[in-house]
Amino acid sequence: IGEGHGVKGLSETGIKGLPKQYIQPPSERTANIKKAEPQESIPVVDLSMWDDPTVGKLICDAAEKWGFFQVINHGVAMEVLEGVKEATHRFFGLPPEEKRKYFKEHSASNHVRLSTSFIPEAESALEWKDYLSLFYVSEEEALALWPAVCRDQLLDYMKKCEVIIKPLVQVLMNGLDIKNIDNQMESLLTGSKRINLNYYPKCPKPELTVGVGRHSDVSTFTILLQDEVGGLYVRGLDGESWIHVPPIDGALVINIGDALQIMSNGRYKSIEHRVVANGNDDRISIPLFVNPKPSDLIGPLEEVMVKSGEKAKYKQVVYSDYVLHFYRKAHHGKDTLEFAR
Ligand code: SIN
Ligand code: FE2
Repeated sequence: IGEGHGVKGLSETGIKGLPKQYIQPPSERTANIKKAEPQESIPVVDLSMWDDPTVGKLICDAAEKWGFFQVINHGVAMEVLEGVKEATHRFFGLPPEEKRKYFKEHSASNHVRLSTSFIPEAESALEWKDYLSLFYVSEEEALALWPAVCRDQLLDYMKKCEVIIKPLVQVLMNGLDIKNIDNQMESLLTGSKRINLNYYPKCPKPELTVGVGRHSDVSTFTILLQDEVGGLYVRGLDGESWIHVPPIDGALVINIGDALQIMSNGRYKSIEHRVVANGNDDRISIPLFVNPKPSDLIGPLEEVMVKSGEKAKYKQVVYSDYVLHFYRKAHHGKDTLEFAR
């Protein structure tokens, strides 16, 4: 892989074959996936009336059943979404010598790292993807460290997303019968954030590789902005089939992550998903991960345990240990969760 070029550089050489490091084992390829029944689809929730109890019910039902839903009329303006997509294209369009500075080997901070595939050191087969991962500490730090071609749009977007994050936390906790969200609880659920810019270049042999392998997110929840290309698939209810998450102009995709599955003692589901490689188009997506703070101890919430009388399905783990565990190995379904058993 040419330094600084990533998979995008490789794709742009116009190669006809797939370099062998990208060839996935047959079990992970996506050509013969079992597609879900056409009537199975991820719910789309209209957020124009947050206060309407039916909205809360739709969201909690979706979080329990599918782990994924899309939201429309969410209050983040179309121009802001377009600004983020343009910023992502601007970043990946930088010349290799500019992008090179952000490669994890050269980056001034581990809060900013450009990578190709997921964890190339730990993967037996690589993923057809480049991504810039930005850990948010403060606006000041972001202004100093994040690439100038995209930072303003990303910071603006993150701020605007608060109109979704706050009510979403309320509604999800309400669904667990937790009415009073104090500062400590809010910080436990939303105390840190990471935003990734994903670039999936057009692929010469999409049937032999993946954009992203099967995994579940380690977040509390993730807010995903995707472009119009499509290719994100979510595990169907039968645990075998895959459901496409169709791009809807102006919508955002929300999925529950492992941290909330653990905190809700399994009530809300962190669902496996993956992205197929595409033979015709480049694709971008921008996930905003809303996470506990790295130093937080996460486990089934006491309120959930008391109210439900259930046995705890997970043990308490330090969130940063959980995340480290995720980044130590290749994408492999939901197996990070075993770390909390
Ligand atoms: C991911 O889940 O890692 C990426 C999702 C997407 O690109 O749609
Ligand atoms: Fe993901």
